[in-house]
Amino acid sequence: SKLEMFVDELPSMPTLLGYGVGNNGSFVAGNLTIGMYQKFWKFHRDLPATSVFAYGDSEAAATVPGPTIESIRGIPTHVTWTNHLPSKHILPWDPTIATARPASGAGVPTVVHLHGGVHSPTSDGNSNAWFTSGFAALGSTFAGATAFYPNRQPPGNLWYHDHAMGLTRANLLAGLVGSYTLRSPDLEDRLGLPSGRDFDRHLVLFDRSFRSDGSLFMNATGNNPSIHPQWQPEYFGAAIVVNGKAWPFLSVRRRRYRFRIINASNARFFGLYFVNDDRLRFRHVGSDANYLARPVTSRRFVLAPSEIADVVIDFAESSADAVVLGNDAPYPYPSGDPTDALNGQVLKFLIRGGKGESDPSRVPALLAPELPAPQVAHVAVRRYIAMYEYVSSEDEPTHLYLNAQPYDAPATETPAEGSSEVWNVINLTEDNHPLHVHLASFVVLEQRELQGKDAEELRQCMQKKNDAEACGAEEMAARGQQRAVPAHEQGWKNVFKMMPSAVTRVLVRFAPLEGGAYSFDPTAEPGYVYHCHILDHEDNEMMRPLKLVH
Ligand code: C2O
Ligand code: CU
Repeated sequence: SKLEMFVDELPSMPTLLGYGVGNNGSFVAGNLTIGMYQKFWKFHRDLPATSVFAYGDSEAAATVPGPTIESIRGIPTHVTWTNHLPSKHILPWDPTIATARPASGAGVPTVVHLHGGVHSPTSDGNSNAWFTSGFAALGSTFAGATAFYPNRQPPGNLWYHDHAMGLTRANLLAGLVGSYTLRSPDLEDRLGLPSGRDFDRHLVLFDRSFRSDGSLFMNATGNNPSIHPQWQPEYFGAAIVVNGKAWPFLSVRRRRYRFRIINASNARFFGLYFVNDDRLRFRHVGSDANYLARPVTSRRFVLAPSEIADVVIDFAESSADAVVLGNDAPYPYPSGDPTDALNGQVLKFLIRGGKGESDPSRVPALLAPELPAPQVAHVAVRRYIAMYEYVSSEDEPTHLYLNAQPYDAPATETPAEGSSEVWNVINLTEDNHPLHVHLASFVVLEQRELQGKDAEELRQCMQKKNDAEACGAEEMAARGQQRAVPAHEQGWKNVFKMMPSAVTRVLVRFAPLEGGAYSFDPTAEPGYVYHCHILDHEDNEMMRPLKLVH
């Protein structure tokens, strides 16, 4: 039986303030306690309640996605993360991949990462800093229950989610995701973008499959079960869920709205466009954690897992009464199956009111002129990051390493604090991999698609020698065809889509964007990580340590 679309209203998740107000009315540091609970969640009017893992400041208040944390630039937020999950996971997991494994019965391991946050390694949610219910069992790098987020970075969109070793794909599928907004009231009042609870909304997108009893369905058999009994290279769900409801609707006025769109899927890319309206546009004002310098207009854009788009839509541009936000991104991206009538639809906007609706908001021509320009001339270190599959049988991946190294091999990426580096990311697979770097911000310099025979030669050479320089990657990239980086992806980002059979050059900055030095020691143990944000890849083991040095 099919679920009827557009029957549930888009929810707003509860808000938790990451700051307090002092006696004299000024903002002071905030202290939050957020727990993880197993509970039931209604994903659709006609679907029985689903057992999920949910974040909340109490069990009753816990939601999927979790509460939105609102913080203010310059005012620190402390969050004590607590785990109240049972001993058994609600989803299958795979003991043959490197996985957090407490002694039996100690509970489901979790650890929270604030994605896009500039904070100490001890607050970064390192994959081995996991803990179980009541802190009964602790991972090797656990550094305390309370994370400290300084919030000194420029304002923008962050999100928090689980990061436990080998369980990230299952813990996020179970529901452990939430939004985190860093506001700068002075700057943002001046910008005049649509604001307030009605006109400034989050859209947290993910795909899920459900059994008819409402439970989450995740395949329990691996695609190569003699090697990995459960692990699958990509999870794709049949239903598209926004803010915890499958195919919801949202009533809007005929005026401007701001949407902060987070792709919290395991592996699904979204190609977002308006299905039945050719007048509406997206005005991008930010991407990932930062504002763009200037707004960029698009009619369609692709959002990879963990990417964030910050767009203004002016419904006064449409004369329709209802418009569907559609998805046309093949899965796996870019050369998998085309979307269909189900996963090709995301959300329906019901547009109320006539022309001439009052609208005090605007999209100014200049958004964030204070962000620095990338300084390629000052770069001393250039690196290659190679992506290719480790196979033991002809056709199935067994590990998806970066630079042919497992996660626990010693760190090879050891940038100096305060420096910038150029990373040449060579993707020799057929999939697009969204690469995410903790702590740092980066700018894409160029993307070049390798010629067919070069890609094949480089793949074979890398599998033999694992040495991009000796394999001639530089010359091959130079004769590859340059692919334009979309204008809305040219700002400071923390995730970028690494196109298949291409070399993508990024300038990675290991210094705060706002200038000066970090307000903490970025060289502290256990360091940071960088990884592919397709969660099924990250877990097995497209993730490497990133160690800053003085
Ligand atoms: Cu959004 Cu290391 O992750
Ligand atoms: Cu990947």
